[in-house]
Amino acid sequence: MISERAWADIDLAALRQNLAVLRELAAPDRDVMLVVKADAYGHGMQLVATIAQRCGIRSFGVRDSSEALELRSVGISGQILVLGTAIESELQHCLEMGIELAIHSTDRVKSLRQLVRRMNGRLRSKPRVHLNVDTGMGRLGLPADRAPQVLDAILHAPELQLVGIMTHLARPEGGFHPFTLEQSERFQRVLKVAESRSLKLGSDGVRVHIGNSAALFTGMSLKGDLVRPGIAAYGFMPKRILGGMIPGSERLAPVMSLRGQIAFMKDVPKGTSISYAQEWTAPNKTRIATVPIGYYDGIPWRLKGKGFALVRGQRAPIVGRVTMDYVMLDIGSIPGAKVGDVVTLFGRDGDAEIPVSEIAEAVDTIPYEITCMVGTRVKRVPIDRDVERDHQILPRIAVGDSPLVLGSESESGLLSSADEREGDGNALAQATGAASASQ
Ligand SMILES: Cc1ncc(COP(=O)(O)O)c(C=O)c1O
Repeated sequence: MISERAWADIDLAALRQNLAVLRELAAPDRDVMLVVKADAYGHGMQLVATIAQRCGIRSFGVRDSSEALELRSVGISGQILVLGTAIESELQHCLEMGIELAIHSTDRVKSLRQLVRRMNGRLRSKPRVHLNVDTGMGRLGLPADRAPQVLDAILHAPELQLVGIMTHLARPEGGFHPFTLEQSERFQRVLKVAESRSLKLGSDGVRVHIGNSAALFTGMSLKGDLVRPGIAAYGFMPKRILGGMIPGSERLAPVMSLRGQIAFMKDVPKGTSISYAQEWTAPNKTRIATVPIGYYDGIPWRLKGKGFALVRGQRAPIVGRVTMDYVMLDIGSIPGAKVGDVVTLFGRDGDAEIPVSEIAEAVDTIPYEITCMVGTRVKRVPIDRDVERDHQILPRIAVGDSPLVLGSESESGLLSSADEREGDGNALAQATGAASASQ
């Protein structure tokens, strides 16, 4: 008996596999800063960062100070960078927690300096900042021609420590698109200016970062010693860009599977209309299943008439409009389906799969949006495939209001060694609430 109406399985083995692929691609001379902003693209940031830290990743990119503080609170001890812009009211918290900030104006240099002075020696070390250069994304960052001026302002600020120079790429095709190379050239010019100021660039100096997932997979030989992949860690990359297979992307595995269960079933005669506005009527006598997951949970309303779900490993069409809390499926061709059966809205069900990209294409959006839209009442449930295979009974542990499923310490490998438990291994315990459960 499944107790949730709707939930998202988070496949930890897939996550670990994807992280290994990313680290391999980045090696030997680049480290990975994992982008976990927006609750790890909807996958559950605390969990993802904790697993990543276990896998040796020491740098994380977040959206804002509250995400950064959340990571610190579950024991993420390494580098955390607010990738976008912090707002003024967030600055003090960031500095107190050793959160790194991206800078894109002289005003921000000034306000940080003033803040450090006002904090009057309360900081254990200088705030660590990254110069964010806009080479063509047009969202945040300094235009490349103004970057040297702000670079100098940072270098002349004894209160601040410059630890990074970054830019962000606009083209999803990464290195396969000429605009990326244009961006790279603009960035190189800023780096040259930095070198002319006797700055040492690289892993033992000021870190240089430009590449996202697309750049990493399209083999760009961009200068840089840190890469910032996000989407690839969650298992999505277009397998083909400009007609070519992207090497390595076939090794990525989707991490999230969105599921619900059949809550109600009925047989309907030909001509019965289903859902709002009567947009679908049964062409023949059939069986309709009602599943308690709707657009509030992240099933796009525009999926009406186009979507499918997996029941018993078979595709059942979503019929009628998606409603706020429910979708209806035509399960007339799935013998044996019954109330309580698991329904997979996207992701894997045994050998069958509805890829996130299929849904994204059906509703004319990108996979990022589909996983980010999975709602807060959908529980994220970590699944370790090895543990499942061994038929372990999985204890359920709450993180706030999100129950998580973990294997036993030794079987799952999640809480495997004494030093993990003592050191940053506490992170998973905290991320999952296990620490308080065992105290
Ligand atoms: C500044 C920055 N760097 C890196 C990334 C990661 O990009 P991707 O998920 O395409 O790898 C993002 C995501 O939007 C970002 O905003």
